[in-house]
Amino acid sequence: MYIRVVDNLIKNIPSFWPHDWPFKQIVEQLPDRGNLIEIGPYLGKSTVTWAHEFTKAGKEWNIHTIDAFEGIKKAWPGMEHLEITEEEHLEKFKNNVSGWHNISYEKLRWTSDYKTNEWYDVLFYDGLHDYEHCKEALDYWVDKVNCLVIDDYDMAHEGTMKAVDEVYNSITWPKEMEHIVVEDKGIAVIWSEQIP
Ligand SMILES: C[S@@+](CC[C@H](N)C(=O)[O-])C[C@H]1O[C@@H](n2cnc3c(N)ncnc32)[C@H](O)[C@@H]1O
Repeated sequence: MYIRVVDNLIKNIPSFWPHDWPFKQIVEQLPDRGNLIEIGPYLGKSTVTWAHEFTKAGKEWNIHTIDAFEGIKKAWPGMEHLEITEEEHLEKFKNNVSGWHNISYEKLRWTSDYKTNEWYDVLFYDGLHDYEHCKEALDYWVDKVNCLVIDDYDMAHEGTMKAVDEVYNSITWPKEMEHIVVEDKGIAVIWSEQIP
């Protein structure tokens, strides 16, 4: 019952991805505890989906999410309903993640100058999907986490595919890539663990 209520709450969070996020199969492969960092939650649909999947799997994970929360002034054709002002953006996000004590957030336009003392196991990247921004984020996080999850690894986002492929090929320690395909969306999952 509780699970269905949360499922419905998540479905009602406006998102650039109108379907369910396919995180279950990733969560199943993760340890019982950990820290996930997300770049680009928009209104929190992906964030709450991660939290919900961890709960359903009986795993204790913290999720820290970063968004510029500057609003969406001009969405592409067909997505105009997702346009929001800067004032609305953070407020709506906070409302959608309320009650999840394992979700924290930063209002920040992320760049590779980012500094943190926290340790993260997983990155979920759903910020800008052009080559430069995606590559900047992946180059920064590749040797800091054991798992990189990158949204939009598909033919509609050639820049993302190029950045992911280049970063994957640059990894010199043991690695594996999984490609999740749902509807017309692709998600790349890079598993890698540096052996000290
Ligand atoms: C495609 S939306 C994310 C969709 C979201 N994952 C969901 O489940 O609905 C992209 C988000 O990334 C944010 N963003 C883009 N570039 C960013 C950056 N450099 N730093 C922080 N947030 C960024 C935007 O503000 C926007 O909210």
